[in-house]
Amino acid sequence: MRVVVAIDGPAAAGKSTVAKRVAEIKGYTYIDTGAMYRAFTWYCLQKGVDCQDEKACVALIPEVKIELKPGHVVLCNGIDVSTDIRQTNVSANVSYIASYKDIRLALVDLQRKMAESSSVIMDGRDIGTYVLPNADVKIYQIASVETRAVRRYEENLSKGIACTLEEIEDDVRKRDYIDSHREFSPLKPAPDSILLDTSFMSIEEVVNAVIEKIDNKIKEKNLG
Ligand code: DC
Repeated sequence: MRVVVAIDGPAAAGKSTVAKRVAEIKGYTYIDTGAMYRAFTWYCLQKGVDCQDEKACVALIPEVKIELKPGHVVLCNGIDVSTDIRQTNVSANVSYIASYKDIRLALVDLQRKMAESSSVIMDGRDIGTYVLPNADVKIYQIASVETRAVRRYEENLSKGIACTLEEIEDDVRKRDYIDSHREFSPLKPAPDSILLDTSFMSIEEVVNAVIEKIDNKIKEKNLG
């Protein structure tokens, strides 16, 4: 049975860490949609295009090819950008890129194609509401801004990405605002999503909670 899982929620809520673990345990394909918006942003910055100039960014769509490869490798026009897309200059600009409808439509098209053939767990902001509205399980993962900022700060330090905690907290607040206030496909919980507040949960607890929801759903489907 093919299973489709959507995990949405605000920046740095731990969605990708959880989605990666669940994918490993269940043998599903993990699709990190944020990485795709980040790769597009990286390309705009490389080209010296102002990320707040919608027209100029949209004009780049035909020349950008984004691929997600095994091992969480992200390619942009064949270049491995997996590390570069986590840098602070990309984080600071990605919400502008993700607010442009034409860019979203192009990337959503790609995301839906990627989810066609196998069991998948996809994380992002609009997976349950827009990209995969028929997903079997929809999780909306949240945590306080302070918790999210500390988590992302520690993750960046471990990856050797230079930043300060204040910088990260500002970035998280700013992205939350832009992501949830944009006109097209904003960040919001799908009405049929399960809310998971992870502020006081360990990664293992969140992973187990998500797996339990998936297993319950599979049982329900098999019985029905
Ligand atoms: O999950 P992330 O922090 O890597 O996502 C980067 C940005 O991309 C985030 O600020 C919002 C945007 N995004 C989006 O708008 N829709 C998605 N499905 C995934 C990410």
